[in-house]
Parts: sequence; C-alpha cells; structure tokens
Amino acid sequence: MATNRTFTMIKPDGVANDHIGAILNDITKGGFKIIALKYTKLTAENAGEFYAVHKGRPFYNDLVTFMTSGPIVAAILEKDNAVEDFRKLIGATDPTKADAGTIRNKYAKSIEANTVHGSDSDENAAIEGNFFFSQFERF
Ligand code: TYD
Repeated sequence: MATNRTFTMIKPDGVANDHIGAILNDITKGGFKIIALKYTKLTAENAGEFYAVHKGRPFYNDLVTFMTSGPIVAAILEKDNAVEDFRKLIGATDPTKADAGTIRNKYAKSIEANTVHGSDSDENAAIEGNFFFSQFERF
C-alpha cells in the first residue's frame, strides 16, 4: 500500500466534551502522522459547502447547525492506506453500530454528534484537506 493521506475533523461535540487530546492520541497510536492541524470554527456557509453532497437529505440542515455550534479541530493525516484505515479507526457513522474501541464507539453520543469526520475516498481527502489548509500549511 502506498503512503497516502486522509482528512479528519474533531467535531463540536468532541471539542466541547474535552476529547481533543484523547482523540489525537488514538490517531497517533493508530499509526497516523499528523501533517497539518488547526483549531477553528465553521460558518454556516463553510459547513454547507463541506457537506454539499448531503444537501436535500432530511438531516442536512440540522447537520449544518450542529457543525457550526462550536469550534472544531481539522487535520490532515498520513499513513499507508490512510482513508480505509482511518474509517476503521473511527467506526460506523451511527455510534451504536460502531465497533468496540473505535473513536465513535468511545466518544460519540448520536449519529449527528458523532465526534469525528473521516474522508471516504482519496479524492475527497485531497478536496477536504485543501478546503481547510492553504499550500503553506500542508507539506
Ligand atoms: P455520511 O457521509 O453518510 O457519514 P460519515 O461521516 O460516516 O462519512 O454523513 C455525514 C454526516 O452526516 C455524518 O457523520 C453525520 C450526519 N448524518 C446524520 O446526522 N444523520 C444521518 O442519517 C446520516 C446518514 C448522517
């Protein structure tokens, strides 16, 4: 497997519940290198654009509201097989279905407030990383 990259966010619930340190530790222990890291807050416009693929779905407006409800942590991560391995580390979208020991299983309270994002393809990982980080912030 080639070394490649994925993009993640610690969502507003993960930050509000003081899980930033524990989650970054899980990510590092999982074999991922943190290539870029940012503490920030999304505007409704940012969140709407980030989740534009879900526009029109019943949960879209609530998702945008939730994602703008507090600060987040954005990061680009590097590892062999990064996208697939990171999806395994975070677990299923619905935390009640996430495997024991996964980040969502440990910290998430609901399908909406599911604590972390993980890109679903190499293409989206690049798009999402570029959305948050300028060329001077990722090497
Ligand atoms: P999705 O891309 O399907 O999941 P994942 O984050 O695991 O790639 O959905 C994006 C986010 O939308 C998801 O993390 C939480 C929210 N969401 C809901 O609130 N309700 C839902 O029924 C779904 C499918 C997603």
